[in-house]
Amino acid sequence: MRIQEHPILGEPQKGRLIQFTHDGNAMQGFEGEPIAVALRAAGVMAHRHTKKYDKPRGIFCAIGRCTDCVMVVDGKPNVRTCITSLEEGMTVETQYGVTAKKPEVESEKESKKEGTV
Ligand code: FES
Repeated sequence: MRIQEHPILGEPQKGRLIQFTHDGNAMQGFEGEPIAVALRAAGVMAHRHTKKYDKPRGIFCAIGRCTDCVMVVDGKPNVRTCITSLEEGMTVETQYGVTAKKPEVESEKESKKEGTV
């Protein structure tokens, strides 16, 4: 959902509709809008998971100050998606700690050690 008309700012200026991927899924957004806005419009709320407790985080300040919206963009971690413009063909991935790879839980590690996976 996007704001269609703002009482003070009027109708928002949109770029052209472009393609990007989020965690491997094809998505669309408007060129030049913040990545976080395109994700929110598509219903994506969790941008990263905390390293210690694996808690999901998303847009909080929306002005580039809190780092809750950081994601891995085109392979680069810690990109603040609320202030980074969307570009054609971007690869946007959920960030786990400081990588795009979800950490193994202890039971998965044990299974690998035992050779059951
Ligand atoms: S939401 Fe706070 S830095 Fe992006």
